[in-house]
Amino acid sequence: MRALAGAAKGARMCGIVGYTGKRQALPFLLDGLRTLEYRGYDSAGVELEADDGELAEVKCRGRVAALAELCSGLPGTQTTGIAHTRWATHGEPSDANAHPHRDCSGRFAVVHNGIIENYQELKAELEGTGHSFKSETDTEIIAHLVEEAFRGPAKGSLETAVGLAAARMQGSWAIACVSSEEPGAIVCARKGSPLVLASTDEGAYAASDVTALSNITSRVINLEEGQLARLEPSGKITVYNADLSVVAEPDGFTIDWDASAATIGGYPDFMAKEIAEQPAAIERLLEGRLGPDGIVLDGLSLPLDEVAAIDRIYIVACGTSWHVGLLARTYIERWANIPCVVECASEFNYEEQLVSDHTLCVIITQSGETADTLASARKMHARGAKVIAITNVLGSTAARESDGVIYVQAGPEIAVASTKAYTAQLVAAALLALFLAKANGSMPLRVVRDHYREMLRIPELIRIVLSRAWQDEVAARAFTDAQSSLFLGRGVSATTAREGALKLKEISYLHAEAYPAGEMKHGPIALVEPGYPVVVVVPESPVRDKTISNLREVDARGACVIALATNGDVRVAQLADYLLLVPPAPEWMSPIVDVVHLQMLARYVALARGCDVDKPRNLAKSVTVE
Ligand code: F6R
Repeated sequence: MRALAGAAKGARMCGIVGYTGKRQALPFLLDGLRTLEYRGYDSAGVELEADDGELAEVKCRGRVAALAELCSGLPGTQTTGIAHTRWATHGEPSDANAHPHRDCSGRFAVVHNGIIENYQELKAELEGTGHSFKSETDTEIIAHLVEEAFRGPAKGSLETAVGLAAARMQGSWAIACVSSEEPGAIVCARKGSPLVLASTDEGAYAASDVTALSNITSRVINLEEGQLARLEPSGKITVYNADLSVVAEPDGFTIDWDASAATIGGYPDFMAKEIAEQPAAIERLLEGRLGPDGIVLDGLSLPLDEVAAIDRIYIVACGTSWHVGLLARTYIERWANIPCVVECASEFNYEEQLVSDHTLCVIITQSGETADTLASARKMHARGAKVIAITNVLGSTAARESDGVIYVQAGPEIAVASTKAYTAQLVAAALLALFLAKANGSMPLRVVRDHYREMLRIPELIRIVLSRAWQDEVAARAFTDAQSSLFLGRGVSATTAREGALKLKEISYLHAEAYPAGEMKHGPIALVEPGYPVVVVVPESPVRDKTISNLREVDARGACVIALATNGDVRVAQLADYLLLVPPAPEWMSPIVDVVHLQMLARYVALARGCDVDKPRNLAKSVTVE
């Protein structure tokens, strides 16, 4: 088992980019911030440094486009700079609270992702020694700590000053710092919040996620917990441990995305693009997964006898990934006969778990950086359980800290609302269940093969659903005057209903409640009045008839019924106001296919309500705060 870093702490969903080299820094910094916009933010800023060390700062509340406008008057000759998108935690979104932040002398500028938990004590101490502050942020104390250390024990070394500042801080951080005292240098530090670095002939780069570097290079250095780095204009990068000893071989990895994967192409928005990419993503994930002994999951690297002995699984995730977990439990319990507990990470972390030598923890996190999920994994590791991660992001913290990993290979997902990562994670969960079932003898190889062959049909089934986007566009009319809506389903379709409701809420800001269809009459049916939109997920399945009874119950009360049903289902067609048709699919597979309609429905409703489907308000792509 790999050694794990300390307990998880919160970090912001903010974005960092930095550059020092031969080129003008500003174009890269602004481009980098644009690629990080998807993480969610409310303000942006940049600090540029001229060859003589003179610093120039521009920052504002609002979008990167507004920042770029403000920067248009700059000479643009600076070749060193750091930049930031901020998602407010301490202090409201405002120009003053936007990063970078400087010390009293204006010689040190810092951008930061994370939370400094002891900032109030440190601030009081710094104020006591004469420092004054311009913002309400916790970040500003870092610049003052660096200033203090630089002129004191660091004896004029920027990396020592940043290292000493970090030693005073509690919480989490990814930091980039420039100083007019050391023109051209950028010093970075990491604890609990990711930071990647890259070196080319043109200079050295830093970013909080690889998407900002994917059109620069395919080889990146991953700054590990507690490490610092110094970047120089020649492209030289020196990585240090917390005690400032040099790391001989920093951890590196290759980005396997081509840069165009993170661009919008000819689509109206990233969500539309990512919905359309689902068949290709799943084809990629499924390719070559059937070997002579069953499902091939190279990244798992757990001894087969240990896999065969697993007798309890905790599946932990957040949000959309938690919905994947609900279906992962169904697959694993049905096929591998292993009891599973599925829990949202934020709850899991404050509960007791039963852990034995044969307990496995599966974390599901498309970003691989969700703070609560990482905390769960660390907790389970500390208790002696093996941890495997299902994730989309190569080299993410979840992947690096786990004993095994299944990469879902969906490519960069830029829209905040997850679509292709969701369906790819479902496929990965099914592959994992088949792998476990074969390993512990619950399923013969022949049946594993049959299931795998069935799975190969998923991309084609999704293509059929995609070709019926018009049905979702029409059904979106049911929500025109709605204040609220209900999503119903039974069995595996209860999770599809949950996911559909979550998608609608996040991107259209319309309330949507998901309920197991049979539970509806125990409360939520009181919501139903004439015209009230109710989405009923009722594909062909053993519980179809029961769900149709529930459909009748809402229909009888005047609901506007949007029914997701299998081609040719006349009974459902007669009861529905709007129909979303899906091709026939095995019951276990139907959630992977059916949800595509609900993704498209949510998108059309959101567009009709004038919402930005890629960047919904208040949300961040990667939730790195607890
Ligand atoms: C919703 C969505 C979120 C994420 C959740 C966990 O569309 O994407 O609910 O699923 O924030 O994120 P990951 O999977 O990165 O751990």
